[in-house]
Amino acid sequence: MAISPDYMQELSQRTDIVELVSGYVQLRRRGRTYTGLCPFHSEKTPSFVVYPENSSFYCFGCGAGGDAITFVRKINNLDYIEAVKLLASRAGMPLPDERDDAGQIKRRILAMNKDAARFFAAQLNTEEGRAARGYLRGRALSDATIRRFGLGYAPGGFHATGDHLKKLGYTEEELLAGGIVKRSQRGGVYDFFHDRVIFPIIDLRGNVIAFGGRRMGEEGGPKYLNSGDTPVFKKSRNMFALNFAKKSQSKRDILCEGYMDAIALHQAGFDTAVAPLGTAFTPEQAKLLSNYAEELVLCYDSDEAGQKATRRAIGILASESMKVSILTVQGAKDPDEFIKKYGAERFELLVEGSKSALDFQIQQLRSRNDVASPEGRIAFLQEFVRLMAATPNPIQRDVYISKVCRELEVDKQAVVLQLEAALKRKRSGEQKKEARDLKVFTDRDPRGKPDFERQRSPKAALAGERLIAYLMKNPDQVSRVVTSVREEQFVSALDRRLYQLISGRLLAGQPADLFSLSGQLETEEMDRLSGILTVEGGQNISDAEAEDYIRVLQAVGTEKKPEEVGKMEDDELRRYIASLTANKK
Ligand code: UTP
Ligand code: MN
Repeated sequence: MAISPDYMQELSQRTDIVELVSGYVQLRRRGRTYTGLCPFHSEKTPSFVVYPENSSFYCFGCGAGGDAITFVRKINNLDYIEAVKLLASRAGMPLPDERDDAGQIKRRILAMNKDAARFFAAQLNTEEGRAARGYLRGRALSDATIRRFGLGYAPGGFHATGDHLKKLGYTEEELLAGGIVKRSQRGGVYDFFHDRVIFPIIDLRGNVIAFGGRRMGEEGGPKYLNSGDTPVFKKSRNMFALNFAKKSQSKRDILCEGYMDAIALHQAGFDTAVAPLGTAFTPEQAKLLSNYAEELVLCYDSDEAGQKATRRAIGILASESMKVSILTVQGAKDPDEFIKKYGAERFELLVEGSKSALDFQIQQLRSRNDVASPEGRIAFLQEFVRLMAATPNPIQRDVYISKVCRELEVDKQAVVLQLEAALKRKRSGEQKKEARDLKVFTDRDPRGKPDFERQRSPKAALAGERLIAYLMKNPDQVSRVVTSVREEQFVSALDRRLYQLISGRLLAGQPADLFSLSGQLETEEMDRLSGILTVEGGQNISDAEAEDYIRVLQAVGTEKKPEEVGKMEDDELRRYIASLTANKK
């Protein structure tokens, strides 16, 4: 890492973590800390805390934590250098010079994707691209739309795209890393997209990050092929056409199933249409959309699969504040076909008339249960109560309960009692879950797996972690600590690594605060370190306490077998027992 410590120190001083986080999370002051709803997981009660004192954050709900750089990395999905640059530009500092490998390969892939997109677009106008042109015209796309979305054609033959990009100077490694070519069984490479219409996928900054490709006929593999994840692309975290939708005046986005629906909607004037990228809608995408939209109209295909996907999406969207409504396409299989058959004005009416998510869900419940029969009514009401219990707004609940009870001619009071019982169960379930979660992630390694080493010796683990917290707060004590405790005496792999890194930096006269460490630790390791500082270092650790922790660690690995203990001299036995009590205390 080529950035100088002085630069980092200045950046750290110029970055106010509270101000930074406030750009993404609504924070409320609570004494010396600030709290809010965690941006890294879905929650209804705030467990996300910002500590101005050591410029860190930690979420007690999901275990995410770190310094300002880690925050920016996580929330924007950036690598370390990109995060430093973003903070530098916020702080009005010139950028550090960039020489790192990860950033380098990303820049190469983005440049290559741009060249690939140009190539695909140009191929559309060649003789070979004639069928693809005909296909797009058959789907009623205008030339302007084709240009606006940068649509193109990937030629057949398995080598045209790769060969073209190699001529432009891209290496085979770069082509593979960007997913443009795949390695064949025989060891060569072949074009991932061949003889397909190409849909470039463009991120919010205008980079071409991936491609989707549709076959034109009935034959030739899956209908759509999509780039896999690459260093510049995660399909669960991007949305097709969001680059256009975010520029719209309207804050009402339209979520549809596929590329063609989104493009057809844009062409018909609905400039907020977006679509997922060859996978089901994800919680990350819901979060991403909520940055740009206040309202979301779900507009999936009218078939059973589309309705099922709608129910799933409603569940995912429940934790976002966007107003969600559901549009049902009638008389056509999807929005694309609807607009072709009935025109944009009729579609506008559907958008205006789209039902609230609750109306949609109640309607679905009714169609699943025959409310004319007593059993059907009971089954319907049970599910209805569950639905109401999952609805956070009490006024909304009251309106719907009144309406349903009137329609079914049942006693409202009885339904309200059931709802109250359900709410109570739900609340105690949530509290239990929160308590469980809190306990769990101190016991987890940075990959979220149980940390068995740590679980086997919790007492020694805690001592080691408090000692790490002590060291970070009292860097002048480093020589005393390192002469007493060796790295191997820490019980878990992560703690050994943290101890080695922190003590090594301090001995070399370098800073070892969170901000300086974030260049050498993975974001997941930062989670754990922040957890250690928060939970273990919440109060100040005195020198005497630190001595106790050192003693506990010194006893690690010194337990003797019974036959060895049997042979001990009195003095030795006394010392041994003393060391055990120190360890178990
Ligand atoms: P659809 O089949 O509904 O796509 O699948 P569409 O965009 O309406 O396509 P047309 O109108 O038939 O051309 C919805 C989305 O699911 C993904 C694609 O992202 C598509 O846009 N999909 C579908 C695939 O990834 N692979 C497939 O084989 C099919
Ligand atoms: Mn479709």
